[in-house]
Formats: sequence, C-alpha cells, structure tokens
Amino acid sequence: MTNSKLENYKKRIFSGIQPTGNLHLGNYLGAIRNWVNLQKDFFSIFSIVDLHAITIPQKPSQLKSSTYEVAAAIIASGIDPKKAIVFNQSSVKEHAELAWIFNCVCKIGWLNRMTQFKEKAGKNREKASVGLYGYPVLMASDILLYKATHVPVGDDQKQHIELARDIASSFNNMFSGKNEKDFFILPEPQILGQATRVMSLRDGKKKMSKSDISDLSRINLTDTKEEISNKIKKAKTDPLPLPTSLEELENRPEASNLLNIYSSLSNQSIEFTLSQFSGKGFSFFKPKLIELAVETLNPISFEMRKLLKDTNEIDNILKNGADKAREIAEPILKDVKYLVGFII
Ligand code: TYM
Repeated sequence: MTNSKLENYKKRIFSGIQPTGNLHLGNYLGAIRNWVNLQKDFFSIFSIVDLHAITIPQKPSQLKSSTYEVAAAIIASGIDPKKAIVFNQSSVKEHAELAWIFNCVCKIGWLNRMTQFKEKAGKNREKASVGLYGYPVLMASDILLYKATHVPVGDDQKQHIELARDIASSFNNMFSGKNEKDFFILPEPQILGQATRVMSLRDGKKKMSKSDISDLSRINLTDTKEEISNKIKKAKTDPLPLPTSLEELENRPEASNLLNIYSSLSNQSIEFTLSQFSGKGFSFFKPKLIELAVETLNPISFEMRKLLKDTNEIDNILKNGADKAREIAEPILKDVKYLVGFII
C-alpha cells in the first residue's frame, strides 16, 4: 500500500504485543479481542514487538518460539492478515531509526515519570538496561512511524501513549514549518471494554502479568480446559456472597476482578452481571465463569496449536506484513529526516 492510498484511511490503528511468553487472559481481553473488533472499521497494523522484548534479557531460542506463539495467538483470535498488517517489529528497521531521533526529542524528566519502568526495574535500577529505560520512546516511534490515530491497549499502557503524544507535539514544535499543519497527529488511546486491567487470580490488587512467577495467577491462552478450571477454582476470593451494587464491590478486589472477567467474556455490563449473581456464593459463580472462559479460550488454543504445526505459514504472514508495513514507514521516516535536516 502506498502512502497516498493510506491517506484514504482517516482512522488508523497501531498496537503491539511483546513476545515474552505466557500470553494471558489480560492480553486477550485488554487488547487482542478489541483489535479483532476494530480491524473491521480501522486500517490496522499489529506488531509483535521483539525489539521491546529484549529490553529484558531473553533466551534467543525462546524469543523465537514466543514470537511464533504470539503471531499464532493473534491470528487464532480472529485477526485477518488479509485485512490487517501483522509483522514482527525488528523486520522493519525504521522503528529503531525513528526511535533514535525521538531519543533526541524526549526529555529525561519525561522518562523518569514512567511508572512501568519503576515497576520493571525495581530496586536494582542501576542494573536495568538502557533499552528498558528508553522503552517508551521506541513505543512512540512504533505508533508515529505509521501516523496512527488510535492505539487500542489495556489500561497499563496509557501513560506510554501520553508520552507518545508529548513526543509528537514536541517534534511538531521543533520541526514542522510555521505555516504548515502539524507533521504528526496526536494518537488517542483506546482503552475499551470491561476488562481494561485484568488482575492476578492470586492477588486482586496486582495486575495479571506474563512474568508473575506463579502460573496460578493467570489464565494462559494455551491452558487446557482442566488448567483453566483448576486456576479459577483456586482463584482467591472472600467469604461474602456476591453483592447487589458496584459500591459494595469497592473493597473486594478479587470479587471485582472475577466479575469484570465474567462481564467482559460475556460482553455485558458489570451491573448486568451483578443482577445475575447478587446474593450467590462463589461456589455458584465460579463454575459459570469456568464454563465461559473455556468456551472462549478453547477454540483459540486449538487454532493456535494448528497454526504452530506449520511455522512456514506464519513466516509468510510476518514477511508479507513487514513488506506492507515498510511501504508505509519508509516515506514517513524520509519526511522526518528531511524535516530534521539530514541529507536524504
Ligand atoms: P504487553 O505485551 O505487556 O501487553 C500487550 C497488550 O495487553 C495489554 N495487557 C493487559 N490488559 C488488561 N489486563 C492486563 N492484566 C493486561 N496485561 C497486558 C497491554 O495493555 C497491551 O495492550 N508496551 C506494550 C507493547 C507495545 C505497544 C506499542 C502497544 C510496544 N509498542 C505501540 C501499543 C502501541 C506492552 O508491553 O504490551
């Protein structure tokens, strides 16, 4: 697709997911499932962000298999590679090139505010990689390299998108000509649905995460029916019956999380879910949740296994996607270089 053809698409989304193993229900409900719905109305670009993955040490063979697994998960969930562009980030070198230019636009003070870096680096900040610190700058380059207008993500990425907006407007101020319209569009986050922050099944105050050492904390997209059932049965709860109103849920993080997951899986409001289950105990609610989770995830893991049997097909999809992504990215980066003053 040429850039002029791309101009026909007013709304354009970009989103990414790291190939770091253990794709879970949070990734699915907070991101992938929304992408599937959005691909009908938006020109869509989805990337498996392997450059982001190496900000934390990865075993090379594991990185490769996780990249295949994430590609399979995206496709098995319903992303159509004929409609949307699907590719792995490192295949389009323009991401890294634009990130360098943005490193020279972004201020250290802005990065110092990023909560995810603080969480990921923990107490041992001196030992964190420079890549982990600059991670949000690369994320801004992912989005702006395609002049994406919308970015569908879970709640945890909101701050990074705000930073991408700051970088875009700073670049515009520094380099867009006075009488021209701004070069970069400021991208909008799309944080959609009932499960924008799915919490751990072991601790309702902690986010469900790929890196949690306890596998019982999350439902993986590759979990079997038995594993899903076991994890939901063991999920932490409290001794009270399910309440009638949202206010009564306020200090019950585990109950609130399970009800949000149920609402999201069944595409209904949390108020409606409460009306179905108020006064009931978890022993009544959990089997219903298990049924719903298995019904949603089983077909996805089945399809993933099928796709992973032939990685050649995934290779073709990724290569094709990278070619299409590059066609859009190259001219935009060229314009950026021109504006910055490089000889091109
Ligand atoms: P990552 O790989 O951590 O997560 C992928 C997507 O899943 C969402 N998510 C969740 N949503 C709800 N509940 C949860 N517990 C949960 N955990 C994860 C994330 O919000 C995300 O949408 N930095 C990004 C990847 C990225 C990106 C981008 C995203 C790189 N470049 C450009 C958008 C645009 C990340 O680490 O996602």
